[in-house]
Amino acid sequence: MKKTDKRGKLVVGNWKMNPQSPQEAVKIFAGIKRVSGKVRGVDVVVCPPFPFLSLFSKKVDGAVSLGAQDVFWVDAGSFTGEVSVQMLKNTRCSHVIVGHSERRAFGETNEIVSKKIESVLKLGLTAILCIGEKERDKNGDYLAFLKNQIKESLEKVNKKTLPQIVIAYEPIWAIGKSFAEAMQGNDMQEMSIFIKKTLVELFGKEESTKNLILYGGSVAPINASDLASNGAIDGFLVGRQSLEPASFGEIIKIVSLA
Ligand code: PGA
Repeated sequence: MKKTDKRGKLVVGNWKMNPQSPQEAVKIFAGIKRVSGKVRGVDVVVCPPFPFLSLFSKKVDGAVSLGAQDVFWVDAGSFTGEVSVQMLKNTRCSHVIVGHSERRAFGETNEIVSKKIESVLKLGLTAILCIGEKERDKNGDYLAFLKNQIKESLEKVNKKTLPQIVIAYEPIWAIGKSFAEAMQGNDMQEMSIFIKKTLVELFGKEESTKNLILYGGSVAPINASDLASNGAIDGFLVGRQSLEPASFGEIIKIVSLA
């Protein structure tokens, strides 16, 4: 990430199934707004659980945007427990995380992810596509796995809507671990190159250079500098540390300076 880079920078906070009360949610959100208001040149997106989204609809501004952690692909109808893209748009969500490994663990396939992405793009929102392997093997089979995840998940995407896609590389083995177990910057650089190459193969050089690439998996202020400076990424998808405004603010600052 060089300062001369014309690409945008993005830090996304995925609160997952936290916190438990709206009071806590309001407090965390206010803290994040405070810290991100002080940093220039980085887009910040907070993804709270569904019941809290409307608490923040009126608080979305230049400092913080709102995102959802998942969505359903059909416009409306008898789908108990599901949430449509239009509902998210009505709460002023601009981003949607799609295909997080914690959703894939419940059976979400690339085919489902692809349908979700199509519906997100249709209404003009940005899809944050999560990809990542469970483990690495010496033969490098995980690279073929990742390539396939990208290919099948973006099957319904055309060149015109490609800029609405953000790719978050989140190796499952690095999620929810100690911060020392996260990826190193140099390794991430290899993955970034691989992801970019795959996008070029699928969509051509001109179009695919616009896609932002994030790293996710145990990101904290302590490891963010190495990843941001050496990882050839445009920002982070942050889990646990996005519930701690001070740490999250540090991470945002690191991205702005990288
Ligand atoms: P983590 O989560 O930062 O707590 O590892 C990242 C994610 O799953 O998006």
